[in-house]
Amino acid sequence: MNTVDERIGGRFGARDGQPREFAVWDPLVRLIHWSLALCILLNGVFTDPEENLHMWVGYTAAGLLAVRLLWGLIGPRPARFTSFPPSPARALRHLAALRRGDRTVHLSHNPLGALMVYNIWATVAAMAVTGYMMGTVRFFGIDWVKEVHEAAFNWLVISVALHVGGVAFDTWLSKVPLVRAMIDGRKRVPDGAKVE
Ligand code: HEM
Ligand code: HEM
Repeated sequence: MNTVDERIGGRFGARDGQPREFAVWDPLVRLIHWSLALCILLNGVFTDPEENLHMWVGYTAAGLLAVRLLWGLIGPRPARFTSFPPSPARALRHLAALRRGDRTVHLSHNPLGALMVYNIWATVAAMAVTGYMMGTVRFFGIDWVKEVHEAAFNWLVISVALHVGGVAFDTWLSKVPLVRAMIDGRKRVPDGAKVE
């Protein structure tokens, strides 16, 4: 029989030895995630920065950020900022726990992943602000604005590489297929693993 975990999304009971399933990522979080990745790919590789399309795609990324900010306040539990506070101290404790062999599964982002998530969103915000500034009379042609836009992009590329590496590492360590969860919304937690 299915059971419902009141703390976080729905939990779907499993037979012995089978992974337990937790509904964690709602459709909006998933849509925003993959749309953001697409926007970055388009603007970083395919659009011409001189053309309007680059600006529209960039503003779309900024719009996704705005909706995600709102959703972090009013969305379902795993999507809320209170479920993954930006805390370096928690991230360090998480690292220490991993080294002790603690394999507790976090139903929202783990504390280390949370720092990366805030970093990525902040970098996207910096790109949108500097992109906008380049088109204003006051900042048009000012070198440092363009330089910050470029530096933010380089930082974003590094961050995304670390992000994807972190996802792969955590998937291997925890045995929870994280990418699949970002596609269908459900984390499948191995039988016996603690969840938090
Ligand atoms: C430009 C590319 C990408 C960007 C900017 C990006 C950004 C993000 C952000 C902001 C989040 C937090 C989601 C939220 O709570 O709103 C996230 C989570 C996640 N991303 Fe990405 N992502 C990118 C590419 C990818 C790729 C290629 C994969 C798959 C290999 C991936 C897998 C995931 C997963 C599995 C999570 C959830 C991690 C967890 O369970 O804590 N991402 N990503
Ligand atoms: C996710 C958001 C964005 C990404 C990933 C992105 C990425 C880039 C990249 C890779 C370049 C080329 C830099 C170079 O010349 O080496 C660039 C240039 C530029 N971007 Fe963006 N951008 C974003 C958002 C925006 C926005 C929102 C605007 C304006 C509304 C904008 C306006 C520009 C302009 C005007 C340039 C040309 C700078 C120059 O060469 O003079 N960008 N962007």
